[in-house]
Amino acid sequence: MKLYEILKESIKILSSKGIETPKTDSEIIISHILGISRVEMYLLKDMEVEEDKKKEIFSIVEKRSKFTPLEYIIGYKYFWGMKFKIREGVLIPRFDTEALIEIAKNVCRNPKHILDIGTGTGILGITLKKLFPDAYVVMTDISELALENCRENVCTLLTNLEGIEIIKSDVFDNIWDEIGWGKFDLIISNPPYISSKDMETLPEDVKKEPIKALYGGILGLDFYLKIADKAREFLKSNGKIILEVGDEKQAKKVKKLFNLKGFRNFITFKDVSGNVRGIVVLHY
Ligand SMILES: C[S@@+](CC[C@H](N)C(=O)[O-])C[C@H]1O[C@@H](n2cnc3c(N)ncnc32)[C@H](O)[C@@H]1O
Repeated sequence: MKLYEILKESIKILSSKGIETPKTDSEIIISHILGISRVEMYLLKDMEVEEDKKKEIFSIVEKRSKFTPLEYIIGYKYFWGMKFKIREGVLIPRFDTEALIEIAKNVCRNPKHILDIGTGTGILGITLKKLFPDAYVVMTDISELALENCRENVCTLLTNLEGIEIIKSDVFDNIWDEIGWGKFDLIISNPPYISSKDMETLPEDVKKEPIKALYGGILGLDFYLKIADKAREFLKSNGKIILEVGDEKQAKKVKKLFNLKGFRNFITFKDVSGNVRGIVVLHY
């Protein structure tokens, strides 16, 4: 079968099963298996594809047609230009989360101590360590699998492992016990923030991601509350908290919550699509 015929057939299968981006997904699958770029794929469209490669491609297409997220099948996702390994059972990083890095670059001046709560694959902590190589970065998660995934990414993506801590902790619970200190210039988190109501309407492929990484309690605010409750204990004066939120409404609720805990200064920021994606809580 020629490459373009495989592409056509794959798009047909995926769209017939209701996959929203059949062309992009097919291109990613084929280029992944053949080890070529998506541009090269079109240059080589008349190439005859070996039988075993064809089988591999269609076996992935079949998995994808059952709504298994592509990243769990191919095992990686790019974030901030770096290739992160993704284990099935760990939240798949979203491009929108890059907005948190962008704002951190703008509001932080050489933070010495950084805490990434709910690190997942490690995207935030690892990217911040790249941007602020002298910083001490603590990455935490409650999921063993996520911590393992994070460790793998730390080892492959960072050359300087000095000042990196990866610990299991329920939000702030184990920080002092594990590292013996706990005052940060920057606390950053993309917490589970989906409400009970929104959990009911999640797309099929998102439902294959871990509930623990998505569900934020009845109103989606449980984690913000946990962070707000103890933030003062863990923040240096002039420290900042950067939190991802789902939308503008949630940003307002999160600000209110922090306001009730005595925080008065906030910055709301957007992602590249122009949607409200997070807030910065400033501590003076
Ligand atoms: C929305 S995911 C974010 C993952 C990663 N930071 C990212 O942006 O792709 C939330 C993460 O919080 C972790 N988590 C859930 N409950 C937690 C808790 N009580 N304490 C710490 N981490 C928790 C989940 O395992 C998951 O990895």
